[in-house]
Amino acid sequence: MTACLVDGGPRGPYGMRSWSRRKLAKASEGVGFWWHSIDLGEGVVTPGRKSAELLAGEWDALDLPDLAGKSVLDIGAWDGYFSFEAERRGAARVVALDHYVWSMDLPRQQQYWAECMEAGAVPGPYHERPDLWKPGELPGKAGFNTAHRCRGSKVEAVVGDFMTIDLDRLGTFDVVLFLGVLYHLRHPLLALERLARLTRELLVIETEAVALPGFEHHGFCEFFESNELNGDVSNWWAPNRRAVVGMCRAAGFGHVESRDDPAGHPPSREALHRYRLVVRARKGAPPGAGGAGSASPPPGG
Ligand SMILES: C[S@@+](CC[C@H](N)C(=O)[O-])C[C@H]1O[C@@H](n2cnc3c(N)ncnc32)[C@H](O)[C@@H]1O
Repeated sequence: MTACLVDGGPRGPYGMRSWSRRKLAKASEGVGFWWHSIDLGEGVVTPGRKSAELLAGEWDALDLPDLAGKSVLDIGAWDGYFSFEAERRGAARVVALDHYVWSMDLPRQQQYWAECMEAGAVPGPYHERPDLWKPGELPGKAGFNTAHRCRGSKVEAVVGDFMTIDLDRLGTFDVVLFLGVLYHLRHPLLALERLARLTRELLVIETEAVALPGFEHHGFCEFFESNELNGDVSNWWAPNRRAVVGMCRAAGFGHVESRDDPAGHPPSREALHRYRLVVRARKGAPPGAGGAGSASPPPGG
């Protein structure tokens, strides 16, 4: 873990503790791998693979309502950027749930991945390698823990696999964030059904997606048996927009909307291509429908 991890001390803006820049920088450096660039205060931002600019753009693309007073569940939180941002924006309660990368020795996993790529080999499933997979120690949670303590955060961490965790014990939330997780799951429709059980108002999904011009009215998913998607063996599916929207409706979300192009880049019209898709789903009956959860296509669809 890291050097500055002590409780107590005065708080700065947004509840961040007033630690010195040197202390915060040392804490950041003590983490072997950062996925998120997180503001620790005093001008110290963690060196995440996702830059601060990229994350700010991703946050904006979610188009979230005012979170003041809301309860928020961030599934697949990793280092916690979205959890901490929800907290900073006034959410009354934020829960960050993860287990997969938290269980991983991330610097070692990166090294293993690079060696496989250099050798032209397909990496084995990370969780089947005892040198990488340490669920008893949670080495990959060091980033979240560090940011949490440096920011003086009250975000609650839950270590668990969303697909098997006891949903009754987890409770329900006004807003559920499901960002970058759907395509990692073997059973996405089951995931949507589980999400419907704990979402009170709004579910926001951000996912890898596929598009095939001319087939927009068909719901389908591209399946990855191995590491075809971004060289990552933990990726299974790239659904198209129609499939994500349809799965949300089938799972009981009556109002589903999506912007095909959250990043502002027009998808190629030429061939099958992949991009990031944001879908927002609300509970309740679809407009004009008799019952909740209708999976029938929209008129003319
Ligand atoms: C691509 S990362 C996305 C991280 C973050 N949400 C973001 O958008 O930057 C996928 C995250 O989902 C987590 N994850 C994958 N499967 C999960 C599961 N079944 N339950 C909980 N978390 C899961 C991984 O551990 C990882 O943190």
